[in-house]
Amino acid sequence: SSNQMWGGRFAAGPSEIMQTINASLGVDRRMWREDLAGSRAHATMLRDQGILSADDAAAILDGLDAVADEFERDGPPTDIALEDIHMAVEARLAELIGPVAGRLHTARSRNDQVATDFKLWTRGACRQVASAIVSLQQVLVARAEEHAATIMPGFTHLQVAQPVTLGHHLLAYVEMLQRDVSRLFDADERAGECPLGAAALAGTGFHTDREATAQALGFSEPTANSLDSVSDRDFALDYLAAASQCALHLSRLAEELILWASPPFGFVKLSDQWSTGSSIMPQKRNPDAAELVRGHSGRILGLFTGLMITMKGLPLAYSKDMQDDKAPTFEAHDLLMLSLAALAGTVESATFVPEKMRAAAASGFSTATDLADWLVREADVPFREAHHITGRAVKAAEEAGCDLPDLPLERLQTIDGRIDDRVYDVLSVEASVGSRTSYGGTAPVRVREQVARWKERLA
Ligand code: ARG
Repeated sequence: SSNQMWGGRFAAGPSEIMQTINASLGVDRRMWREDLAGSRAHATMLRDQGILSADDAAAILDGLDAVADEFERDGPPTDIALEDIHMAVEARLAELIGPVAGRLHTARSRNDQVATDFKLWTRGACRQVASAIVSLQQVLVARAEEHAATIMPGFTHLQVAQPVTLGHHLLAYVEMLQRDVSRLFDADERAGECPLGAAALAGTGFHTDREATAQALGFSEPTANSLDSVSDRDFALDYLAAASQCALHLSRLAEELILWASPPFGFVKLSDQWSTGSSIMPQKRNPDAAELVRGHSGRILGLFTGLMITMKGLPLAYSKDMQDDKAPTFEAHDLLMLSLAALAGTVESATFVPEKMRAAAASGFSTATDLADWLVREADVPFREAHHITGRAVKAAEEAGCDLPDLPLERLQTIDGRIDDRVYDVLSVEASVGSRTSYGGTAPVRVREQVARWKERLA
């Protein structure tokens, strides 16, 4: 038999495969709360505008409450003959309250309905991710406070560059994540216009009040163009773009944890709860959670580009291709939420190994810049020349098989007579990080300031 919602002109129902390819209920059932909220706002507005009688509206609103209770209790339906969540809600409403249910769809189309539901869902997702990011930031800040003065090598090109503090390194991620929060906030705000009431594509001849529905659903105003309203998925793309960039940051942190946990580095030991063993090599402790976070970031970016590609060739207004918007968005959201939680757990329970970090920082002539700076400051040597002198000192240390602070003064003085024994005050890694007090620098005193600032900001 033909579809009872739209089958008036159809003599036969869809083939089984048509039904399967057409159905989105398996995916969009997840938006049932948003769908019910949209319907409540719509029914209330229709009543207030005199389009629905008070009795009909009351029957519909009570019926929607009953549907909500049922779905809350039993979960939303799964029968794909119902096609999508919008039809599933309306079908259940009709079973509960009879033909009056059919009045709910006055001055509305599934096209504005789905845009509204999905926008509501996406705005909620922005807020959920932002708050999960804040939880991860809090973990990072706590670990940064603990390790404000813990010395590790800072790298460029993954070569030892200058000593830094672990606290400073961890706070770098807090900064990145804050930009993600800000992008999610923007995405949420930019999604502030409500498409409900645009109807199929052209608006409606009924005397609706779109301001009222927009307000009831927490939007700041109605969308201003009905064609754009039903064909726009920028809000999902904004969310996915922000999610992808956040995932990129998580991937970089995950990569560092993986590297640091590798025994030749040995900077960190991951806890039992956040690593796995090998079924053949008993010594192994693998950073699987971090590896999966790194892997998931690729999937999230793929889902973002996938939806970009879905959208890019579509003429106005709605096309069914757009039904493929939700699966990638939901999947990316789930992967991101999981990644955020997994990294928070991994970082919170990790044991850093300061001895290993300090030893690595003290090798590789990481205080060479400090020697050059000392020559500039104390002996008035131009920086370029100081750089050259220091290069010779590094070569001498390399030949002697020692680090810069272990070179005897006589040896340094053969390189440049202006060097005196005060130079040793700056050659230790402790002195080096301690001296980096410029705003934003790695000195423990600066790190503690930033920790205090973040604690206040994230509270
Ligand atoms: N299930 C559809 C979607 O997710 C709802 C909109 C269908 N509209 C239509 N005219 N067929 O996009």
